[in-house]
Amino acid sequence: MWKIPLFDIGFNEKEAVAVQKVLSSGWLTMGDQTEMFERKFADFIDVKHAIAVSNCTAALHLANLSLNLGENDEVICPSLSFVAGSNSIIYTGAKPVFADITDLNDFNISPEDIERKIGARTKAIQVVHYAGNPCNMDHIMEIANKHGVYVIEDCAHAPGSKYNGQYCGTIGDIGCFSFFSNKNMATAEGGMITTNNDDLAKRIKLMRSHGMTSMTLDRHKGHAFSYDVVELGYNYRMDEIRSSIGIVQLGKLKDGNIRRCEIDQIYRERFVDIYGIKVPFDTKYGVSSHHIFPILLDNDVNRQEFMEYLKDNGIQTSIHYPPIHLFDYYRRNLGYDEGMLSITEEVAKREVTLPLYQSMADKDVHRVSDVIVEYLKETK
Ligand SMILES: Cc1ncc(COP(=O)(O)O)c(C=O)c1O
Repeated sequence: MWKIPLFDIGFNEKEAVAVQKVLSSGWLTMGDQTEMFERKFADFIDVKHAIAVSNCTAALHLANLSLNLGENDEVICPSLSFVAGSNSIIYTGAKPVFADITDLNDFNISPEDIERKIGARTKAIQVVHYAGNPCNMDHIMEIANKHGVYVIEDCAHAPGSKYNGQYCGTIGDIGCFSFFSNKNMATAEGGMITTNNDDLAKRIKLMRSHGMTSMTLDRHKGHAFSYDVVELGYNYRMDEIRSSIGIVQLGKLKDGNIRRCEIDQIYRERFVDIYGIKVPFDTKYGVSSHHIFPILLDNDVNRQEFMEYLKDNGIQTSIHYPPIHLFDYYRRNLGYDEGMLSITEEVAKREVTLPLYQSMADKDVHRVSDVIVEYLKETK
């Protein structure tokens, strides 16, 4: 339907071969492939533990549970994000407290607003590295340490992003990654939890599979006959098929991110001094994985018409994000309303996300840029 889609998966015969091997092996559930995927992911981002799970929402839920979050606890998180982050807090009985973003150039959670919202009930801060741009982690870790609260990094956008030379997902207490189809590395559905904390890793591994002390594979290999259940757990397991895809995708991540960076640069060069739009994150902390390419329309550009015009030209766009605090459920249950997070709301009204994926050709990046420049000239 689209001449230029918003994203495209970077699959070729390598993923097909990996999947075929698993299908022929006779073992489909969490096993050797999953172990290898975890080990390779941990080595790649230089972290002690990587625990594969069924998706990033499950990763966030387990991360919150491992910190013993519950009723009367609060977690500070951004509203300009995907709803999975704050939902995962509510699953535990705790309450998400939304902090605003930094400014119209930096869409990441504002450390200053975190400081304003932190209180006796705050148990954790959940940050999102928006579009793969690392948050100001020095400032956030300083606040967390001062108040004795945990930090969870939602790295759904940020596999391969680095802050001060350190990979995102290894700076706070726990990192959570997504391998959903539109992500920098995809396994269809899938996620990974990372931590350097042995105790947290142990609990997370238990809760990933019903709190059971032995797995089906252990019993298959003759290592165990029975099991005990020592935690209230879930079925958040990864399977061998998706792990085998993950191993291939991880091998492509570095080059994919380099290509994404090139595309980002072409867009930025094309949009220098163009009336009607600004490109955020022109200064940033560290290295981005360039998950998406957000732009900010000027106040007098009609976003609906802008997106319709691109659609008429076969170009898919999106919005990242409708703010969570203004969703009906959040208004009704948590009492949020318009005007409570002014910068988030401003960006949410004016942001548009342009196509970006590693196999995108230069000519398509220029085509998107040409159509935008043409539209803005006509409507000036
Ligand atoms: C910032 C963010 N957090 C969490 C998620 C949830 O990831 P998953 O779909 O793997 O559960 C997403 C997915 O789009 C996301 O963008």
